[in-house]
Amino acid sequence: MAIILDGKALAKKVRKRIKSEISELGIIPGLAVVLVGEDSASAVYVRNKGRACKRSGIFSETIRLPENAEEKELLQIIEKLNQNPKFHGILVQLPLPKHIDETAVIDAISPKKDVDGFHPHNIGLLQQGRPQFIPCTPKGIVELLKEHNIETAGKHAVVLGRSQIVGIPAAILFSAKSIGNSTVTICHSATKNIREIAKTADILIAAIGRAEFVTAEFVKNGAVVVDVGINRIEKNDESKLVGDVKFEEVSKIASAITPVPGGVGPMTIAMLLENTLISAKSNL
Ligand code: GUN
Repeated sequence: MAIILDGKALAKKVRKRIKSEISELGIIPGLAVVLVGEDSASAVYVRNKGRACKRSGIFSETIRLPENAEEKELLQIIEKLNQNPKFHGILVQLPLPKHIDETAVIDAISPKKDVDGFHPHNIGLLQQGRPQFIPCTPKGIVELLKEHNIETAGKHAVVLGRSQIVGIPAAILFSAKSIGNSTVTICHSATKNIREIAKTADILIAAIGRAEFVTAEFVKNGAVVVDVGINRIEKNDESKLVGDVKFEEVSKIASAITPVPGGVGPMTIAMLLENTLISAKSNL
């Protein structure tokens, strides 16, 4: 039976450290969160981010725009936030409605306030091994493995999914000499033999957004399994949250596994607070 990588517990510890650092900082870090549209999952994530800020002593403001908001309006709001010294971090919750060009929006965020680490400038710095802001979910995964003394150097890390939010930055982090130092394989929708490749992983990171896609047949005995998925499914007339991994069977063969909920999710938020603090400190 796998040990459970408890992200909720570690996130609590990280938040406590952040709160104490902020209380001695002398300025109040500020985070602006922009939510466009009515996506219910996004609304929940944004609410949780706002709450976490408040509890840690970060000033946060959520700007809500309707589903049919124009890209131009969003770009103007971002420009104002870039200029506003109250905010050290700006986060535009993704995904955006289809008519808005996500890349144009990410490009518009000042790289100095890009606490998501999605701006091409920050992705470039990360790729070069001199990061300014590390994307929150992959950063949280690395912290969680570190907390449990899980060795990543020289290990085969297989990343399922190539999203800009998780898959690509996770692959960069795990391959970086000073961070994961792992051998990395990225699998995606055009990969022919995902199951066979996944089965060679020492560390398997599932970030594809498909409920319980990773079954026991994908997992080597003793592998470390990180589940990034948050999928709402209907089962026996009940709605519940499941990951991209079939926890019940995979937890029997993995050596360690993250639960959903309570694994990667809380770590993502804790790392957002940390990135906001880093930004506030660098602008002192
Ligand atoms: N949507 C899902 N995860 C994230 C995240 O970490 N940041 C942003 N901006 N949007 C998301």
